[in-house]
Amino acid sequence: MDLKDRLTELKAKALSEIDTVEDLKKINEIRVNLLGKKGPITEVLRGMKDLSKEERPVVGSLANKVRDELTEAITQRREKLEIIKTARKLEKEKIDVTLPGVPVKAGQPHIIMQVIDQLEKLFLGMGYQVVDGPEVEEDHYNFEMMNLPKDHPARDMQDTFYITEQILMRTQTSPVQARTMEKHDFTKGPLKMISPGKVYRRDTDDATHSHQFHQVEGLVIDKHITMADLKGTLQIIARTVFGDEREIRLRPSYFPFTEPSVEVDVSCFKCEGKGCAVCKHTGWIEVLGAGMVHPNVLTMAGVDSEIYGGFAFGLGPDRFAMLKYGVDDIREFYLNDVRFLSQFAQKG
Ligand code: DAH
Repeated sequence: MDLKDRLTELKAKALSEIDTVEDLKKINEIRVNLLGKKGPITEVLRGMKDLSKEERPVVGSLANKVRDELTEAITQRREKLEIIKTARKLEKEKIDVTLPGVPVKAGQPHIIMQVIDQLEKLFLGMGYQVVDGPEVEEDHYNFEMMNLPKDHPARDMQDTFYITEQILMRTQTSPVQARTMEKHDFTKGPLKMISPGKVYRRDTDDATHSHQFHQVEGLVIDKHITMADLKGTLQIIARTVFGDEREIRLRPSYFPFTEPSVEVDVSCFKCEGKGCAVCKHTGWIEVLGAGMVHPNVLTMAGVDSEIYGGFAFGLGPDRFAMLKYGVDDIREFYLNDVRFLSQFAQKG
């Protein structure tokens, strides 16, 4: 058989093989066998050296043509098989997007965080900055700088967990006052800050005490700050948290870092002041402590108390949340029982 006939026969056989193959792996084998170095076409091309000068280009161009046709046939068959494969896969992996999904349980910020968030928003809106302080604090800041020198009797009320003799878990957020005043450049303007965070005390845990709870400290220092500024600010806090109708009253009190110091009561939101169990039949509920910053506190933090002065307050988000939502045991906040916590879903 001459080479031309061999090529024609080869082509016919190969095309029928290509057309009937069903497998992508096999089509690859066919390609290698037909068109590879050891394949029949290469063999024909090799045999050309024995042909006459006239026949050589004829057979050569036919061989190239056959090779091109087979390459094209293989490419097309492969594409077709790929389409079939994808179609089968899609058929097998069909999903019904109309089936109901698995419900995702959405959580929410902890109730204490909701109270803190509300206060942060309020104070940011009044131009305060929100600052953080360390929970592991130095005795120096927690007590000394707050005008509670060693052996001051008021230290007893705030016994805590000591890391070393000089380092302790802070008992109050008040030390952030000193830390912030030290850094503040008063030539650039007043200092207005709140500082929310955790505090620790060596308390026996009961319904109203926890060894760990929260405070939000507030501090404003400028020239000409008066107690009227403090009272206005306290009223805004009371009304934001407990309702627009609330009134406040100030009672004289004592804190080492303020002079004068006050205890702040808010008119009872439950009975509107008539007297009920929440306000212990007095019409008023004690909610926080405050006062005008003691000159010693200013001086120790490097602030000239002849020129500058201001007010401070400290409130307890735990107590706020207990009052607002009628929770009678502070420990509920720290048990992390979802059934308890999910009652306080945030609106909006
Ligand atoms: N640090 C006080 C406490 O833990 C709370 C407090 C009272 C903070 C009066 C103040 C303040 O800034 O002026 O009992």
